Amino acid sequence: MRECFELRDVDAGGRIGSLSIPRAGRSVETPALLPVINPHLETISPRRLHEEFGAEAIITNAYIFHGSEDFRERALAEGLHDVLDFPGAIVTDSGSFQLAEYGEIDVTTEEILAFQREIGSDVGTPVDIPTPPDVSRERAESELATTQERLELAESVDTGEMLVTAPIQGSTHWDLREAAAAHADGTDLDVFPIGAVVPLLNEYRYADVVDVVAAAKRGLGADAPVHLFGAGHPMMFALAVAMGCDLFDSAAYAIYARDDRYLTVRGTRHLEDLDHLPCPCPVCTEHGAAGLRSLPDGPRETALAAHNLHVSFAEIRRIKAAIRAGNLLELVEERARCHPAMLDGYRTLLDHADQLERTDPASKGTFFYASHESARRPEVRRHHARLARLDVPDAVFLTEGPDAPTDEYAESWRVVPPFGPFPRALSKTYPLTAEVPERTDRASIRAAARGVSALVEANPEADFGLGHRGWPPDALAALPARVESVDLTTDG
Ligand code: GUN
Ligand code: ZN
Repeated sequence: MRECFELRDVDAGGRIGSLSIPRAGRSVETPALLPVINPHLETISPRRLHEEFGAEAIITNAYIFHGSEDFRERALAEGLHDVLDFPGAIVTDSGSFQLAEYGEIDVTTEEILAFQREIGSDVGTPVDIPTPPDVSRERAESELATTQERLELAESVDTGEMLVTAPIQGSTHWDLREAAAAHADGTDLDVFPIGAVVPLLNEYRYADVVDVVAAAKRGLGADAPVHLFGAGHPMMFALAVAMGCDLFDSAAYAIYARDDRYLTVRGTRHLEDLDHLPCPCPVCTEHGAAGLRSLPDGPRETALAAHNLHVSFAEIRRIKAAIRAGNLLELVEERARCHPAMLDGYRTLLDHADQLERTDPASKGTFFYASHESARRPEVRRHHARLARLDVPDAVFLTEGPDAPTDEYAESWRVVPPFGPFPRALSKTYPLTAEVPERTDRASIRAAARGVSALVEANPEADFGLGHRGWPPDALAALPARVESVDLTTDG
């Protein structure tokens, strides 16, 4: 059992947790966003990140400190917390990012871990190999073997109270990702970043990001805190949290600000294209679009970076509120409407509905049917699985309308798309308290038909009738032949 991470609340694969960081003498509430600090290019000071934005943790790159004579000496003499002037937790990366960008670095895992410990990092990172997406299986396997050796080496280094991360690689080979995660989970390392997803994020390949996270989660225990390395766009936080990611790091807030890009939860806009600012943050209310544009370069960059951070932290708070209320998937569904690539991501998440169902609580806030994708949610799958375990009388009329017209049926059960049939006694039980639209759709009807089939197939001795409201022929054709159906909209 991992002692540093405690789960407080769960919704789908998403969770609110508390990551305790002994060396920082504090814990961090997750999901958490760690702003990236580059000591050479500071847009917003770490002190301001803490005081104005409530950042409990930041992330910086130990390799940059190691490679700069000035910063190295100061960090060794004063410690990272004083050099950066940050009172919260400081996570450090190792130089693997430079390895991915430039092909070579001049430190080993032992050296950089010792250095991270010496400069007072609270969470250190070994030198993993960030294998890019789409490479051959041979390359992914051989680089993963090196990463795994580094993790084992990291285990053997005395890192004192400092937590140590165990990055998970494996490129876009899902079984390698899963095996990498299982190996990492078997070490005594503490935090589990999913690595080398930056190229996928840059190309908006959210469906692949979801598959990578799903594979890694299959190899990790529920008590493993998961960091999605390099994910900083607030549009995709809800999707990633619903898949089970707990930590994010954002360099995006600063990088985007540098070329006048304005982050929103619905995507990125250029400042020059905006006449009205859709954001209530202090920067936007004070300046407005024209005011922001007229600022000199430096102050404009800082103002945009501040706005980008406000939007990003607000989204993290919104996600936590959604987990508490049990409507995280409604939020993901809303975000999925903002970009087709996000819709691909959400549809891929639903491909993993059975995996998410395993952590989803048995009861939570009211299920809202918000689009035809809702028909594939884990709550619907769970109901269908549960149908097979219900007691059924000899003859049941399943109905979207009035009870059985004759006494040939011992009972009438309700049918509500997308769930399908259930005994009336369960009407007030989650998730059957769902809010569904009056005007249903084919995906919902087909899901209800799957529910009818599940019930009928589990009870070969019983007779079933179905009273439906104009179900299309393909949905009816999918039912077992012995179900006698009547269309309530034409026959009564
Ligand atoms: N930053 C973004 N991706 C990665 C990664 O795969 N490994 C490390 N160490 N840092 C990263
Ligand atoms: Zn704003």
